[in-house]
Amino acid sequence: MNIGLIGSGGREHALCKKLSESKKVNKIVCLPGNAGTSKIATNIDVDILDFKKILKLLKIYQIDLVVVGPEEPLVKGIVDFLKKNKILVFGPSKYASKLEGSKAFVKKLCKENNIPTAKFKICHKKSQVLKFLKRCNLPVVVKADGLAAGKGVTICHTKKKVINISSAIFAGQFKSSNKIVLEEFLEGEEASYFLIVDNNYFKFFGSAQDHKRVFENDKGPNTGGMGAYSPAPIINKSLEKKIINKIVKPTLRALKKKGQFYNGFLYVGLMIKKNEPFLIEYNIRMGDPECQVILPRLKTDLFKILLNTVLNKLKKINIKWKKSKSMTVVLCSKGYPGNYKKNSCIENINKVGLGNNDFIYHAGTRIKNDKVYSNGGRVLNITSIGNSFYGVRKKILSIINKINWKDGFYRKDIGWRVIKK
Ligand code: AMP
Ligand code: GLY
Repeated sequence: MNIGLIGSGGREHALCKKLSESKKVNKIVCLPGNAGTSKIATNIDVDILDFKKILKLLKIYQIDLVVVGPEEPLVKGIVDFLKKNKILVFGPSKYASKLEGSKAFVKKLCKENNIPTAKFKICHKKSQVLKFLKRCNLPVVVKADGLAAGKGVTICHTKKKVINISSAIFAGQFKSSNKIVLEEFLEGEEASYFLIVDNNYFKFFGSAQDHKRVFENDKGPNTGGMGAYSPAPIINKSLEKKIINKIVKPTLRALKKKGQFYNGFLYVGLMIKKNEPFLIEYNIRMGDPECQVILPRLKTDLFKILLNTVLNKLKKINIKWKKSKSMTVVLCSKGYPGNYKKNSCIENINKVGLGNNDFIYHAGTRIKNDKVYSNGGRVLNITSIGNSFYGVRKKILSIINKINWKDGFYRKDIGWRVIKK
């Protein structure tokens, strides 16, 4: 089978690598891919929101199955479009993608189905915000309704900030959002729980904890993720049961009641408080960098899993995992998540000898004259698996030292919750 893989991040490099290991996979075309995927697949430069152009390319390259990595094409309906054109595609429909594409949609769904989540108010105008502020406690979380590339959520410690942020969103700061969700701030520990879902069934697809803040000790602004590890020990058996029964099942049931199905990866973003799960957000895709720590632990053929999901035969597949611990540290361009320079050569990357349990997944990179250059904020994901988080992190940091990229920085404390000082 020939695979078309949409996206260009570390998540897609990890998906590409795993898919390339399947005996059933003949060729992979990445749309557009990065320097890492170019070594194991064919990269074709294309705008991932230009569905018509993508369809043309899929036909030219005789693609049998499309796998969509990022959320934006999903929310904009790429799956419906390709299905209409008789292309087999892994990922949720436009309707189901509202689970990530509209925070107001999810909050209403939670309320209607008693799903535990932060108390909230959906506001369309400033007067509603002012009314809410009269009776709320600080901090308040302000969320733009639509996709905002990770920039749509602000935790506000003053009422003035709530008003300023809300006004900016109403004024069109994020094109995708004309309304906002105001939310109670939840204390607790965050964890991510992943599922793969078809029209009839769902299966566990790993757990992880991400590190969103840019600096060590969880300081500084939020990022797309500076590192992650898997599994997340906080997700014990009793908590898992609650996540399934109180959150996942009611959500899938609610979609079915509306005559809709979910098919694809489902990322359940949680706040855990006293062994109780609260839904913070859904994502309709694998996480990035969570995918880069989960896939190295997967023993079962990823292609078989994805194909069976598309064909609604997920129940037949036995998904097996390695017991090992996995971690990734993200090597970023200095200045990220603010301004950073691009096009800096990562000289030593090809000189680093990697063992069987070490992986470098590319994210913002491109290749020029056989050399790797930075091309984004998050540049490389250095990943390793092993018996202990302590040993794995040590290994990763030694690899980063060997790369010794002068324009890069990273957090040395990824996994602090599971590595005691
Ligand atoms: P979201 O895009 O909804 O995942 O929000 C981004 C991040 O903001 C989350 O990963 C949390 O760290 C934080 N966050 C969002 N909602 C809340 C909340 N109600 N209480 C506390 N933190 C939150
Ligand atoms: N690492 C967070 C995300 O993928 O949304």
